[in-house]
Amino acid sequence: MIVEIINKKRLGKILSKKELENFFNGYLRGEVADYQMSALLMAICIKGMTDKEIFDLTDIFIKSGETFDFPGIEVDKHSTGGVGDKTTLIIAPIVSSLGVPVVKMSGRGLGFTGGTIDKLESIPGFRTDLTDLEIAKQKKEIGIVITSQTKNLVPLDKLIYSLRDVTGTTESIPLIATSIMSKKIASGADKILIDIKVGDGALIKKEKDAKKLAQLMKKIGKFHHKEVRCMTTNMDTPLGTSIGNSLEVIEAMEILNNKEDNYLRRLCIELASEMVSMGKDISVEEAKIQVEESIRSGKAYQKFLEFVKYQGGDLQKLKVSDQRIEVKSKKAGTIKKISAKDIGNLSVSLGAGRIEKEDKIDPTVGIVLNKRVGDQVLEKETLCTLYINKEINIEQIEEIFVIE
Ligand code: URA
Repeated sequence: MIVEIINKKRLGKILSKKELENFFNGYLRGEVADYQMSALLMAICIKGMTDKEIFDLTDIFIKSGETFDFPGIEVDKHSTGGVGDKTTLIIAPIVSSLGVPVVKMSGRGLGFTGGTIDKLESIPGFRTDLTDLEIAKQKKEIGIVITSQTKNLVPLDKLIYSLRDVTGTTESIPLIATSIMSKKIASGADKILIDIKVGDGALIKKEKDAKKLAQLMKKIGKFHHKEVRCMTTNMDTPLGTSIGNSLEVIEAMEILNNKEDNYLRRLCIELASEMVSMGKDISVEEAKIQVEESIRSGKAYQKFLEFVKYQGGDLQKLKVSDQRIEVKSKKAGTIKKISAKDIGNLSVSLGAGRIEKEDKIDPTVGIVLNKRVGDQVLEKETLCTLYINKEINIEQIEEIFVIE
């Protein structure tokens, strides 16, 4: 039976819901082996899935664990993962400060992409293991909660995601759509904004694949009566100037505190405006006026401080390493490229990210980019500053910056 299902997909045939259930639920129960699941995932990667198969598989994923539904409409945002992506830390307080509740279950980073929970846990005392009761109470009292995914939210995705990571099957659009949408639907979101990252430092490398993924996620959303909007944003170069957990919290606070006006700020305004537009049923233009006012007036920053304090975090104790190295340019010119993927891998080698799921991260280390793409640089000028806690060979780091 199991082999027949693999063969059927290998030949490009359509699997019934029963077949998908037998295979995937069997895997969850430990009756289907990793190598059999790997073979099916590869066949799906190559042959694809019909919309009906994708809806069925999403449903099987959702039903594999607990689902949540806290009272009131919730707007959620999901990013497909990037380097230096601290947008949730900025957007959630903006949206909440405008009366749209945000209850977000976020993940930890793996590989060169960072995770919101790791960033928040760099704040000493910050709790990310809230119970359902605590989530409901906090939502009611301050309208913003960010917590880690509980053990039982889509357990099938946890298993499959780890397997995809090591079997070359991460880039399948049906599998990405199923993975993201099952988690969003199971966590109780009513309106969902997906930030699809495209580029060298993202899972999706091409615009046309991002468009396909967006269409598919909207269809899954419609099937489950959820409003889904998607934005495609660039991930060729890291987002913002800081990469590393405490450093990214500091950068997020600077944006909320009106200290920076750059691409990251503009992107956060766009994303937050979409969320507020969905949450309040108003136009994006109208929402944008409110979003800009919330940042300008300090309302969003105050909401961030309230949220961190409520979850036990002490920002006074936030630490970055005091051991620093400046990487200097060997020549003068214009910065043409700073690879998000290479910077992401560098941050992992410094200890800011994980290679294996169990790895411990060092919240105090990371990279601050002193130069961005398009900037002029002089010979011996600083390209980036490394915050380190261990010996590091900086020989090849300068090459991450393409200077012409
Ligand atoms: N993010 C997810 O949650 N799942 C994927 O498959 C890809 C990105």
